[in-house]
Amino acid sequence: MKVLVTGGLGFIGSHVVVELQDRGHEVIIIDDLSNSSIRVVDQIESITGKTPVFEQLDLRDKNAVFSFFKNHPDIHNVIHFAASKAVGESVQHPLDYYENNITSLVYLLQNLKERDAKFIFSSSCTVYGQADELPVSESAPVKPAESPYGNTKQIGEEIIADLCKVTPGFNAIALRYFNPIGSHSSAKIGELPLGTPQNLVPFITQTAIGLREQLSIFGNDYDTIDGTAVRDYIHVVDLAQAHVVALERLATGKNEHNMEVFNIGTGKGSSVMEVVKTFEEVSGQPLNYKIVDRRAGDITAAYAQTDRANHVLGWKAKLSLKEALASAWKWEQYVRSDAFKG
Ligand code: UFG
Repeated sequence: MKVLVTGGLGFIGSHVVVELQDRGHEVIIIDDLSNSSIRVVDQIESITGKTPVFEQLDLRDKNAVFSFFKNHPDIHNVIHFAASKAVGESVQHPLDYYENNITSLVYLLQNLKERDAKFIFSSSCTVYGQADELPVSESAPVKPAESPYGNTKQIGEEIIADLCKVTPGFNAIALRYFNPIGSHSSAKIGELPLGTPQNLVPFITQTAIGLREQLSIFGNDYDTIDGTAVRDYIHVVDLAQAHVVALERLATGKNEHNMEVFNIGTGKGSSVMEVVKTFEEVSGQPLNYKIVDRRAGDITAAYAQTDRANHVLGWKAKLSLKEALASAWKWEQYVRSDAFKG
């Protein structure tokens, strides 16, 4: 299949490109390079031996999006990552988030609705907020969003579901990710946050390598196994493979013109302290950390019920927390080495 990957040079997008190419699919990437590097194209090629087609494109530019699709009448399969994703920043700049995550989505869909397109949307477990029951299943209620970022994921799902209802031939799946971490086993692609990392694992690896002095653990008074908050950390390679099987499902026409949603997690919750201890074990690096107050907006615990993805998609996370953290550490060491800095 020919597959368009928007945001294909980003953390998750680049891993999906590799998995698609490894399965023999032909990939076109569009990316505005706002939070990614053109070097990733070469990194992908050095893993797979195949060069993806790349075009720099800002999806907020309506005319550019329309001419892109005019030039590519053969694009029918799309995996859409291009979006802003920092929760705190979205609170400060809500309109930027609505423009970047919603306006762009609408322009994209306007070009796909008459093409019998198959569309995978990058959604998030953030739509559940603090779920009443854990593990959380796809039928759990969507809670009012805690941030404009979270709201863009909810609204995005609704827009796509509305389009599916009235557009025979346009089929879509939304994947609700839990916490993606880790990197490809080659350590040639991975997560490269701009500035100070907001997420746990990049903060841990940057502390271990000496870029940050100390990890702050946000709260140890939660009602969990050790008082620190619990999340479902999924290896990005497992997550990437879920996209490929989801797209292949759409290609078979099995999903009856309704948008389907799937949780993509491991089904296992790990506390922040468990992540820290596991990291110390796999890296051999003692980590300098301190306990501080809770972070505003954080929930106590989230982990996925994955039965639907297991049975319907035939997908299951295979890689462990240890493997994910070891790969994140390998990537951090590579990024700081002369080999990467060149
Ligand atoms: N944490 C720390 N110290 C840090 C960073 C994080 O203790 O320096 C803790 C957080 O408090 C939380 C856990 O580590 O308990 C995970 O935090 P992340 O920021 O890595 O991930 P979140 O679960 O907060 O957020 C992730 C995605 C969001 C998404 C959200 C949905 O990054 O995009 O899941 O719940 F919206």
